[in-house]
Amino acid sequence: MNPTGNLIDGRALAEQIHRETAAEITALATRGVQPGLAFVRVGDDPASQVYVGMKERQCARLGVRSQTHVLPAATSEAELLALIARLNDEPAFHGILVQAPLPAHLNSARVYAAVSPAKDVDGFHPVNMGKLMLGDPSGFVPCTPAGVHELLLRSGVALAGADVVVLGRGNIVGKPLAALLLQKAPQADATVTVCHSRTRDLAAHCRRADILVAAMGVAEFVKADMVKPGAVVVDVGVNRVPDPAAKSGYRLVGDVDFAGVQPRAGLITPNPGGVGPMTIAMLLRNTVRAARLLTG
Ligand code: GUN
Repeated sequence: MNPTGNLIDGRALAEQIHRETAAEITALATRGVQPGLAFVRVGDDPASQVYVGMKERQCARLGVRSQTHVLPAATSEAELLALIARLNDEPAFHGILVQAPLPAHLNSARVYAAVSPAKDVDGFHPVNMGKLMLGDPSGFVPCTPAGVHELLLRSGVALAGADVVVLGRGNIVGKPLAALLLQKAPQADATVTVCHSRTRDLAAHCRRADILVAAMGVAEFVKADMVKPGAVVVDVGVNRVPDPAAKSGYRLVGDVDFAGVQPRAGLITPNPGGVGPMTIAMLLRNTVRAARLLTG
């Protein structure tokens, strides 16, 4: 096989979605609506600064109004909840994104439950998570799982009856992705296994997978001998590993040993350039949908 012929180009797929979103933004403009997205970042987690910066730039490029609130790491939960309450009532902003992770003294569950479900473009509110679990399409689906799903669909990967193994059971990726692919729906219907740090013989589960999604946050964990030949491999991980040769002193690697796994995979996401751009594309799509629903 051509060694580069099995790459899923997440950037190109994300651009496709951005073009669709841009057309919706144009349609909203004809009735005087500009979608708005408010970002909230607490503390100075360097990765969060980078992620929010990338999301802001895409907003600017597509013509989504954005505003970023940066709060000190010592912000109290009451202060953060007060800001969220203000944003819930602010008509110019249709989406609210509180960047995770939050400092440890803040209760994430209470914070995400405070965002109005109608503006919860992250899909983290219990109402939206519940709707996802129930297969009710009226809610918002978290952006990374939605991005992985869309990336599989647009790559022509058959999901019905496929054995999908998701590595990682986090609330942001693993759990909602499992719910999404498991749905009784023409574009889902997969058989989903979720593996985690306590799973017995995890490699054996992986080797059965037609589609293997790595989202547990362990650098280069998935090795070639854990992958069935021809399987679709999706790498959600973003891990910093020390690298004395890099100017920053570190480099970013995924959860998949890309060099080892690529020759064995049927299709594989590069990292970067796979899931990351899709996550941002789904965020903007959710924001435009929120704007349409809130102003319709
Ligand atoms: N941190 C990592 N992924 C995400 C995401 O999709 N949304 C937010 N708010 N924080 C994150």
